[in-house]
Amino acid sequence: MAETTSVWFDCDTGFDDLLALVVASRDPSLRLAGVSTVVGNTSLDNTTANTLAAVEAFGIDAPVYRGCAQPIAGPPHTIEGLLGEGGMGTTGRRLAPARRRRAESRHAVRALIAYLRAAGEPALVVATGPLTNLAQAINLAPDVAAKIGRLVVMGGSAGAGNHTAAAEFNAFADPEAWDVVLRAGAPLEMFGLNLTRQVLIGPSDRDRIAAVGTDLAGAVADSLDAYLRIRQRDKPGEMPLHDPCTTVYLARPDWFALEPARVEIELAGRITRGATVCEFRVPRKAQPNALVATRAEGSKVAGRTVDQMVAALRAAA
Ligand code: RIB
Ligand code: CA
Repeated sequence: MAETTSVWFDCDTGFDDLLALVVASRDPSLRLAGVSTVVGNTSLDNTTANTLAAVEAFGIDAPVYRGCAQPIAGPPHTIEGLLGEGGMGTTGRRLAPARRRRAESRHAVRALIAYLRAAGEPALVVATGPLTNLAQAINLAPDVAAKIGRLVVMGGSAGAGNHTAAAEFNAFADPEAWDVVLRAGAPLEMFGLNLTRQVLIGPSDRDRIAAVGTDLAGAVADSLDAYLRIRQRDKPGEMPLHDPCTTVYLARPDWFALEPARVEIELAGRITRGATVCEFRVPRKAQPNALVATRAEGSKVAGRTVDQMVAALRAAA
């Protein structure tokens, strides 16, 4: 039996989080030790319900823990208006709500602390939403930062934002959390918009998923259709595939290029709050604190994501 690596997956399930989770669940080199939910795309109730629906539909037996319902500072910023009802819109069928799966009683932050402290080796953590759970774990138990061996994050941008001109949504939703994580020295591998915009999914991928022919495939295809219509409701077009870049990277790092950089996040800027400023002139201009993904073989990354989703749908049939 090949050696597996335990991974903790923290998410704000929306559609691309779902894809990233399914990719991780089908990676034979990974073992999902825990899945934690956080407010982000939508409320904590919705991200948790969406995650439970996903783990039940795809037979993912990892425990699910409810996390933080508020960012560290300020009110939550959710984007249902953009993503659709419940943070995972659809143009037709929808994933069935979980009937058997329930969230664990333990809070995600406590569960994450316990997991990191018990880990026999530096842990692998993937985060595809705001970093609130990670940051609160570090705030409550500063020793756990050193227990993180790799922190692979979809968030931020080495270029323009999406939620604002300057800030990517996950970073914007809780910039103080990013600041805690960066200051704690967690070994960050950052997949920002500068990278994820190189990975595109489109109508032909939706059709491939629909062709599996099951109700679940139809629900995923209709959710993807809604995702493809975010920019233009009456015409589905290509969209960046953000979150799956993290879990495809774990399987195929050779499809990506990452560079050392000094990453800092803007907290006080009137129009730049949440911007992740990446200084690549290291160590001349600054000491590096992250590896920032700069290039991806986009069609291969998108292709593997859809392949894994199709395989998962067939396995769930
Ligand atoms: O900016 C893209 C990120 O925001 C993705 O993680 C998406 O799921 C949303 O959370
Ligand atoms: Ca996300």
